[in-house]
Amino acid sequence: MVVPELASRAHQQKIIPVVEEALRQANITKNELQAIAFTRGPGLIGALLVGVSFAKAMALGLNIPLVDVNHMQGHVLAHFIRKPGEDKDMPALPFLCLTVSGGHTQIVRINSPLQMEILGETNDDAAGEAFDKSAKILGLPYPGGPLIDKYAAQGNPDRFKFPNPYAEGLNFSFSGLKTAILYFIRDNVKNDPSFIENNLNDICASIQKTIVDILMKKIRLAIEQTGIKDIAIAGGVSANSGLRNGIKSLEKEGCRVFIPAFEFCTDNAAMIAMAGYFKFLEGDFASQDVTPLARMHF
Ligand code: KG4
Ligand code: ZN
Repeated sequence: MVVPELASRAHQQKIIPVVEEALRQANITKNELQAIAFTRGPGLIGALLVGVSFAKAMALGLNIPLVDVNHMQGHVLAHFIRKPGEDKDMPALPFLCLTVSGGHTQIVRINSPLQMEILGETNDDAAGEAFDKSAKILGLPYPGGPLIDKYAAQGNPDRFKFPNPYAEGLNFSFSGLKTAILYFIRDNVKNDPSFIENNLNDICASIQKTIVDILMKKIRLAIEQTGIKDIAIAGGVSANSGLRNGIKSLEKEGCRVFIPAFEFCTDNAAMIAMAGYFKFLEGDFASQDVTPLARMHF
């Protein structure tokens, strides 16, 4: 679990060393910067406040524009990051992006870098939460998503069946799944106290398959409804190997698929810089009285 109070203290402690290290690795000085982009939200308010205040001070000190970025927009726009010398395909507009993180699960239609529409989203838990809460039930530490992925690689995904909760249209629902897993584990552990350790790989593979199937069903429906064939995934859960394979399989159905490099799946500053760059080109700047938002829409 992330403890908000501790997270904001850690941000406070680390922000200056992190920015110095980023400048060092990029081999530039702060006087070469043309603008400061920062995450305005959504997220934990205490952590956001540290970033917003730091960005304001830095932009004021350097006398350069300040650019506010929506975190989820950053995840989507990570697809436009090109490393120096890299020549990769980018999604054509409009494209669909399944954004799956610890706080969000959305199907987004991207009409242009700064014009996005949410076609569907979760009614309750996010996909990352479904992974993390399932892992917690299994006694695994936070964040459990990568651990479920790791154990699932050795397991049989068809060994156990979990429900695929109903959600209307392109929306999602995961909370019923969490409850089903909780009861399933409780009942089996009652009969066999070593049930989890003896079956961990198969349990993880079966949970992962259920979550990935829920996501794939809705992305297929979105493709059918919109006719859009350029499909991307973004956010922490796009690091999941089951989801990466599922999305990749859409190529056989005539789609072009875009899967971010691992380092651009989970939260990172490059995606915020990329989104900031698009806004910078439009002259879309924030003022010094901008405030962070725990909840924020596109
Ligand atoms: O985007 P992100 O880094 O932070 C948020 O904005 O929430 O996403 C974090 C989420 C966590 O729930 C974590 O368990 C999940 O992404 N995650 C994974 C994997 N790697 C990260 N879930 C499943 N499989 C993975 N390999
Ligand atoms: Zn994120």
